[in-house]
Amino acid sequence: MKIKIAPSILASDFSKAGEEVARLEKSGADLVHCDVMDGNFVPPITFGAQMVKALRPHTKLPLDCHLMVLHPETHIEDFVRAGADIITVHVEACDIPKLFQQIERYGVKKSAVVNPETDVEKLFPAAENADMLLLMSVHPGWGGQKFIPETLKKLEKLRNYCEKIGRGGLDIEVDGGVTAENVKDIIAAGANVIVAGSTVFRAADMAGTIERLRG
Ligand code: DX5
Ligand code: ZN
Repeated sequence: MKIKIAPSILASDFSKAGEEVARLEKSGADLVHCDVMDGNFVPPITFGAQMVKALRPHTKLPLDCHLMVLHPETHIEDFVRAGADIITVHVEACDIPKLFQQIERYGVKKSAVVNPETDVEKLFPAAENADMLLLMSVHPGWGGQKFIPETLKKLEKLRNYCEKIGRGGLDIEVDGGVTAENVKDIIAAGANVIVAGSTVFRAADMAGTIERLRG
């Protein structure tokens, strides 16, 4: 499967966000991962649709919007209008079939995610018609945490299930604590979309690091 790298702008310099996403595109990233946090679903507040709108003119890469918010249904339209290409909503925060219908109506890609403490089976119903599925490999809310190794088992289960239902080619994304060292195991376990915040933005050689993250 094609491995896609989705750097998280959470680790970027917000004072020059436009330049940062342009730099990601020049360095070979496949997606721009936007971590939206509302101070309720997760303790911190990051940014919302206005930021996504501001970034839109600076890159042609798909904007992969990860909504760590309560009541995501009240924000979908704003993110669509802002230029989101993929919208990911949490199983813990909403009714996935309803949200998928809503996102689909706008012609935007839809994805569902589970937190580390949520059973991976909770994602199975979404596998039928999702454009992507995401597994959190750290507790959502902060960049720079350590990868939770139990995620590998969940990944294997999820990839096997997708294959079983004839959706073996579905994009499966992993988010949190990914490094050039652990990425091989993550890909071997079944992920093909790799989120990386600190690993990409702390690197002296961004392009080289993105290439290494392809395993
Ligand atoms: C955590 C976010 C992640 C995070 C990843 O809530 O969803 O996308 O920014 O950051 P690193 O790669 O630094 O763990
Ligand atoms: Zn994320």
